[in-house]
Amino acid sequence: MIGFIGGGNMAEALIKGMALRNIYVSEPSEQRRGYISATYVVNTTDDNKELAVKSDIIILAVKPQIVSGIAEELASVDLSQKILISIAAGVSISYLSHAFKTNNVVRVMPNTPALVLKGMSVISAAEGISLETMTLVEGIFLSIGRVCRLPEAQMDAVTAVSGSGPAFIAFFAEAMITGGIALGLDDETASMLTLQTLAGTSELFSSRSPRSVINMVSSPGGTTVAGLKVMQDRDMAGLVADVLRAAALRSAELNIKVSK
Ligand SMILES: NC(=O)c1ccc[n+]([C@@H]2O[C@H](COP(=O)([O-])OP(=O)(O)OC[C@H]3O[C@@H](n4cnc5c(N)ncnc54)[C@H](OP(=O)(O)O)[C@@H]3O)[C@@H](O)[C@H]2O)c1
Repeated sequence: MIGFIGGGNMAEALIKGMALRNIYVSEPSEQRRGYISATYVVNTTDDNKELAVKSDIIILAVKPQIVSGIAEELASVDLSQKILISIAAGVSISYLSHAFKTNNVVRVMPNTPALVLKGMSVISAAEGISLETMTLVEGIFLSIGRVCRLPEAQMDAVTAVSGSGPAFIAFFAEAMITGGIALGLDDETASMLTLQTLAGTSELFSSRSPRSVINMVSSPGGTTVAGLKVMQDRDMAGLVADVLRAAALRSAELNIKVSK
């Protein structure tokens, strides 16, 4: 049995992707429980402890600030023979092992495109996790997109690039729409042209590098080169690096570790 503590957006993406029946979800909101159980034919409860006892794999899918309260609730449950997977941003493996009294801990950072099964999930495991467990966890997250394994020390960078990344790309999309409107397009047209261009360009990246796409679109003395020159003159690459650095720094500040 795979049990989700928290039946919010990320849990729903995983449940949808996994398309299994042996899923159990604990969630305080009655309305949300009703929606989840009716939509995905899974069992739900409002009792985290009952869920933990009945599940072999527990996926913590609550906001980071809720995690410590859940650890207290589960204090009497022996989790050492179960697999605890946390997707809570910034909650370290050492904190999870300490708070939930188990070494069988895997930390995963998925991202929002998981909602359309195009997620990017990065997995870090506690020392000593078996190959079998890692393969199992990878299988769960492969159902909502791509997966890679990285050391936990890289999680702040991961949070900046793939975790917050969708918002940065969406910000760029908004700016393109606004720029299109400033050039005389109506809102709807500027939006359609921008979003279809982003979606189409993303598809190109499945077989081409960003640089080769830039080269394909640019011709000497042409319109693309004129636009790219502004990007270079204003050091847009430096700006993007600063954006990612700020996000990674904030992630490091927010990290929940074991207090020594
Ligand atoms: N969304 C993302 O892009 C993303 C990416 C990477 C990682 N994450 C991580 O994934 C986690 C979940 O994010 P989300 O976007 O799915 O958030 P969410 O939609 O707010 O889901 C959290 C769910 O947990 C429920 N909950 C609150 N207290 C609970 C408790 N004591 N026991 C059981 N369930 C409880 C909430 O119910 P109520 O609404 O009734 O309080 C809500 O349905 C977060 O830690 C986040 O950092 C999210």
